[in-house]
Amino acid sequence: MQPSPYTPGEIARSLPGRTAELGEFNADVERLLTRRLLPRIRVDHGARGYGKTSLLREYERLAHQNRLLTVFVTAGESPIIPQISAQLRAHAPKGPAIAKQLEILELQVGFSPIGHVRAEVRPQTVPAAASRALEAVVSAVADGTPHRGLVILVDEVQSADPDGLRALAYAWQDLQREAPDLPAGVFTAGLPNSPDVISAAVTFAERFRFRPIGALPEPAEELAIAEPARELGVIWDRAALERATAIAGGYPYFVQLIADHSWAAAGSPDPGATIDSDAVERAEVLMQNDLDALYRARWAQATDGEQQLMRAIASFGEKPAARTELAKQLGKDSAALSVPRQRLIDKGMIAPEGRGRLVFTLPGFAAYIEDLDS
Ligand SMILES: Nc1ncnc2c1ncn2[C@@H]1O[C@H](COP(=O)(O)OP(=O)(O)O)[C@@H](O)[C@H]1O
Ligand SMILES: [Mg+2]
Repeated sequence: MQPSPYTPGEIARSLPGRTAELGEFNADVERLLTRRLLPRIRVDHGARGYGKTSLLREYERLAHQNRLLTVFVTAGESPIIPQISAQLRAHAPKGPAIAKQLEILELQVGFSPIGHVRAEVRPQTVPAAASRALEAVVSAVADGTPHRGLVILVDEVQSADPDGLRALAYAWQDLQREAPDLPAGVFTAGLPNSPDVISAAVTFAERFRFRPIGALPEPAEELAIAEPARELGVIWDRAALERATAIAGGYPYFVQLIADHSWAAAGSPDPGATIDSDAVERAEVLMQNDLDALYRARWAQATDGEQQLMRAIASFGEKPAARTELAKQLGKDSAALSVPRQRLIDKGMIAPEGRGRLVFTLPGFAAYIEDLDS
């Protein structure tokens, strides 16, 4: 009996199929190490379960390996600038000048350690003051020792407060002009609506690098399934691998889920054992229970209007649904659908694909909805 090497719902231990993203990151690290600012903020965007957080954590690990200082924050629970500032504080040089800048950053949410607020620092001066303060603190920290530069990572960027996004973007814009040789960069990840959220918050979205994070190509899926087992002396036979990749359909979360269930179905094999397609078939049944729970939870979170729109999209099966067709089917004009449409996109349930067409982000969700009625 060996415990499963797979990671459903956890940070992935390796990232097959993400060589382009990792290659670009490594090139960025090279640039930082030769003391150059990364002028554009990178945004990896894709639906839930495609491996964005895993990628950001890998960037963090690679940065550490190269002796770069990292700050990792998750947007959504509280404004991002005070979160970033709280982590930079530990590495900032001592002294009243930087202390004051840090104070301004904490005021970004109107909170500050009681008794430390200075009279001349007022919330209405943000985000212009915040972006200048951030610029000062980032400059001081990135230039400090013993690290060789600074990497700021922001997960769930679609949930970032607009003021925070603006302060970050303006600070970076100024650094491009004033400190092109500062070794600092920003990497973010978020849902497919991240580019829209960012463009709405800042007027110069061309200062960002948008990178879609999509499905895994089949060879990468096979690696993700076979390699962790191989390291434990367990072989997936060809039929089992083919069956598992067909079930996962390139969706990283499903890759982990089917591989993990197959491992259990094969009896948590010892070294020398083989996982065959019978095990995968039994696993598929168990996986379906997990998926039903997942689909049910997502469905329950939707309002009546959202459910109506999702039913219409589901009637197209796994194919993208054209907006005009949806409007016709629901007997509404296209504009009337824009509110539930946007809300579903913001929640990461559906994503635009091509011009005016919509798809579910979760594979199999269309079939689940179709089954609700029968
Ligand atoms: N390149 C990959 N290959 C295989 N599995 C992956 C890969 N990237 C992520 N995963 C797995 O996919 C699931 C979702 O990963 P996560 O990083 O949380 O995605 P996201 O942040 O996009 O929701 C996890 O179970 C993780 O272990
Ligand atoms: Mg994530």
